[in-house]
Amino acid sequence: MRVKINGQEIEAAAGETILEAARRHDIPIPTLCYHAAFGGQGHCRLCLVEVAAQGDKRLVASCTYPITAEIEVSTSTPLIERLRGDIIRLLYRQAPGSELMQDLAREYGCLDEFITEDDREQERCILCRLCVNACTALGASAISAVLRGVDKKIATPYDEASEACLGCGACAHICPTGAIPLQDEGGNRTIWKRDFELLPCEVCGRPFITPEQRDYLIARQDDLDTGLLCDACRRTRVARQMEPFR
Ligand code: FES
Repeated sequence: MRVKINGQEIEAAAGETILEAARRHDIPIPTLCYHAAFGGQGHCRLCLVEVAAQGDKRLVASCTYPITAEIEVSTSTPLIERLRGDIIRLLYRQAPGSELMQDLAREYGCLDEFITEDDREQERCILCRLCVNACTALGASAISAVLRGVDKKIATPYDEASEACLGCGACAHICPTGAIPLQDEGGNRTIWKRDFELLPCEVCGRPFITPEQRDYLIARQDDLDTGLLCDACRRTRVARQMEPFR
């Protein structure tokens, strides 16, 4: 299916989103709540673009808009840039402590509006829910969005240390704004008000996995059969095993 993005003709698969098609052709569209592992969520609206089809023009979130017909897309117009600036202003006021939001606010000229230095120490969460998706995908479901309105936040049940948490840190790693504190120190990890022991990699000795996550992976029969290896050592071992086939 042929689609025009910013005047450039590209090929897109039917059902593929505008964002996916654009990224395959290195056409940049800014995003915050999109992650390739979970697809589009449509929460932040930063990825909005203008779609023209059958004489009609409308603004859509490119991460959730499936391509089902020949369309023309603009990723940047004066209107889009003004709306993106408004979205960034709102998200920045919600999460002024996030360096990413500070950078975006600087780029869109609203860094110092309404914000004090104290505010910058504070909130970093934009409620994009990528952390909740990651936790759910791993099967732990230890965190969720709680409360309503301006009090809404991501938390463990009753804001207490959760037995369901594996201490894997996927939520902290996927968070685009650095909103989830994770501290690894001296073979221990602290996250979501809970302390975990970290077990060492069998090869390099670096503490990297909690017993809870290890047991969970074993129960799921994930590939721990090659040993308890950190990502770097696992990659090295696989590369060595592949050498005879080169
Ligand atoms: Fe599309 Fe957030 S990236 S709505």
